[in-house]
Amino acid sequence: MNFFRRQFGLLLVMAVLLVKSPPVWAQPTGDPMQGVGKGVNVLGYDPIWQDPSKANFHPKLFASIKDGGFNLVRMNLFAFSHMGEDGRLDPGWLATLDRMVTAAQRAGLTVILDEHDSEICGKDARRCQTQLLAFWQQIASRFQKAPRSVLFEILNEPNGQLTTNAWNGLLAEALAVIRRTNPTRAVVIGPGDYNSFRALDKLVVPANDRNILITVHYYEPFKFTHQGTTWTIPSRSRDVGYHWGSLEEQQAVKRDFDTMATWSVTQERPLLLGEFGAYEAGDLTSRVAWTSAVARAAEAHKLSWCYWQFAGNFALFDISRDSWITSIHDALIPPDVPP
Ligand code: GLC
Repeated sequence: MNFFRRQFGLLLVMAVLLVKSPPVWAQPTGDPMQGVGKGVNVLGYDPIWQDPSKANFHPKLFASIKDGGFNLVRMNLFAFSHMGEDGRLDPGWLATLDRMVTAAQRAGLTVILDEHDSEICGKDARRCQTQLLAFWQQIASRFQKAPRSVLFEILNEPNGQLTTNAWNGLLAEALAVIRRTNPTRAVVIGPGDYNSFRALDKLVVPANDRNILITVHYYEPFKFTHQGTTWTIPSRSRDVGYHWGSLEEQQAVKRDFDTMATWSVTQERPLLLGEFGAYEAGDLTSRVAWTSAVARAAEAHKLSWCYWQFAGNFALFDISRDSWITSIHDALIPPDVPP
């Protein structure tokens, strides 16, 4: 009887440890400050965060991403709606996050944890400050022991009430919170105005902190990449029928990336192109040409890139058919040219 009781006790302790203990990390996959490589944005709009049983994304897809030629995922987290009044993150939501990060790491992928509540932040900077700092206080300590190949991105696309000045203040506060528990982890920070490269000059990051990766998003020309979308200012995006690919347009992309690269070299800060993509309402030929041109322009300057996004819209992968959208995939990772 005693034996059984002891066994049961042991099982109980193990079960509690399994539930309570932080995730067991796979081996680190490299130094992110040496370049995070080629990646894709994942999980942002997946029902998994509301109810894991309704997930579209299955953890085995991380292996598909790796096999598809990528080594990085940027996880888009809308955490603010999973916080209590006291600022505590929902344990169920955290468990899903642990599961996803562990699975991505096991597949050999670098992971960026990107707090993506930029819409709330643009409308209510006060609420943003409270929730963002609460988020990083909890996430930074939770992932304190994670390998260096887990990166923290303070906030996606600051905009609206988060003016460049306000953002410079808030990012410094959030970084200080992170640095209490993660003194050297790579932290990703982008400029204001929706992470536009044109706002890089106004971005202020602590000069003595060298573990910062600067991120920009590129969707230019916007009327082409966002044609037919419903979530941006309608007058900017409702019209369709824009093609892309003239010599002038190609040169504009090159010029923009030259500008970014010059900033990166003079400031001695590595750059990540954290989002780029063209919405499905554009014609496929133009979308493929644009996607390829942007990825190659980034690579020409040794910039890491991360495509927007894996599934849903701007899609790279069709989860229901378990297959790549080949034209977009090949634009990003060109198939080997036979000798
Ligand atoms: C930004 C937005 C996201 C949108 C994407 C393309 O990341 O946060 O919601 O889908 O840009 O417009």
